[in-house]
Amino acid sequence: MRKLYVFDTTLRDGEQSLGITLNVKEKLEISHQLVRLGVDIIEAGFPASSPGDMESVKTIAKEVKGVIICGLTRAAVQDIDLCAEALHNAEYPRIHTGIGVSPVHMEKKLKLTPDQVVEQAVAAVKYAKKYVSDVEFYAEDAFRSSPTFLARVIENVISAGATVVNIPDTVGYANPWEYGELINYVINNVKNIDRAIVSVHCHNDLGMATANSLAGIKAGASQLEGTINGIGERAGNTSLEEVIMSIYTRRDGYGVESKINTREISATSRLVSRITGVTVPDHKAIVGANAFNHASGIHQDGVLKDRKTYEIIQPETIGVPQNIISLTARSGRHALQHCLMELGYTIEGAQLDDVYQRFLQLADQKKEVFDQDLYVLMGDSGGIESSIVLQSMSIATNGVEMATATVILEIAGKTITDAACGNGPVNALFNTIDRITGNTAILEDYTLKSVTRSSEALGEATVKLRNNDGRLVVGKGFSTDIIEASAKAYINALDKRNLHTELVTES
Ligand code: KIV
Ligand code: ZN
Repeated sequence: MRKLYVFDTTLRDGEQSLGITLNVKEKLEISHQLVRLGVDIIEAGFPASSPGDMESVKTIAKEVKGVIICGLTRAAVQDIDLCAEALHNAEYPRIHTGIGVSPVHMEKKLKLTPDQVVEQAVAAVKYAKKYVSDVEFYAEDAFRSSPTFLARVIENVISAGATVVNIPDTVGYANPWEYGELINYVINNVKNIDRAIVSVHCHNDLGMATANSLAGIKAGASQLEGTINGIGERAGNTSLEEVIMSIYTRRDGYGVESKINTREISATSRLVSRITGVTVPDHKAIVGANAFNHASGIHQDGVLKDRKTYEIIQPETIGVPQNIISLTARSGRHALQHCLMELGYTIEGAQLDDVYQRFLQLADQKKEVFDQDLYVLMGDSGGIESSIVLQSMSIATNGVEMATATVILEIAGKTITDAACGNGPVNALFNTIDRITGNTAILEDYTLKSVTRSSEALGEATVKLRNNDGRLVVGKGFSTDIIEASAKAYINALDKRNLHTELVTES
């Protein structure tokens, strides 16, 4: 079987395009999970794009081992210098450099002739080779380029030392058979193609990203690029989990195998959704909440007789937990540890004690604690130390149009109380928190949903705040009390944008 390399770009094409600022800890948490998932390459960011990205790539390169860490650059020396610096401590560094090759990119965006594009592409690869042996070249908008010109570019960059050549369908324009033909054309018309790995990178504008990637793999590509849950620019990138499970389920048809541990797919999807704040639709293939639900009577009857009637993937294959233990306030540490292990968390000692105490508090408020509650329990803070603490809050409302919130916060050891009005309880609450913290970031989005079943369900609030620099931060809060969940989410977002640091310096 041919080996299929899996290249994850959740932290680059996924995160960057959504305008969401993930902090370094969150990116590290995702990277460690990607290692558990078994990806071969993590594209950790685009170091030249911002100091934050530089910092993240540096940290991931230093701390995440056993996997190739890749950084993106344009075909420019400054970008490549910064990327090399960011990757300095990586065990296996890769520079991903490239340039647009379609007529519209060359004429309108780059204002370069085709000859100049070839020259710049070759120069970039040669320059990157001075730093690392593993250089991937992307031919941006390859699908809308002329195949003969594309083949010329690819042949030249391979001669210059590119070890991987990425053929993106940047705008998601291809049909599956056409993308397959393009990959086939590259493989059969680039003389030195045996010296490089051919990579597929598709976007989902026409809903074809999975189909196109599979067509490219079938035609001979040996590297798959995509993101978890398909997050990314516009309609998103290829959903890695969809292609991986297609290849796994229909292994008769592709002749490739990856080293992905499919049992980590569910945990990875939930983690990415929680950290980015991008919700997975219930009907989404593989990782949607309903992907394994059988609702109609006929289907239920069928799966009870034999699962294979309506089930082509068993939920446990992608790590959807099959709990046989009910967790309640009477459960002990061992039962909790067992259920957490089923969800992919290995904890013991003091960490288990700490989680157990928080579990008991939650179990006191709910009859039964479900898997979703446990995910929340394990990730309540979103990976950051909270320096704004909600001490208490109360809401007074006349039930018609106005509400008043009184909030007590502890910020850097100082207790501050204030009150403000709003057109409803949540609005009053956020206005009060703004008064206390001096927040000026704009509330861009606020959602509330129930994350578990039963009448004592845990509410999950998501707050998106737009910073003055245009970037979004996502805050999450969980509680059985939805107003408290909202306050926690707002504070979590403020914590992430480090507003408290400004406050402390001001006072
Ligand atoms: O879609 C694309 O062309 C890209 C490249 C920058 C690799 O993301
Ligand atoms: Zn892309």
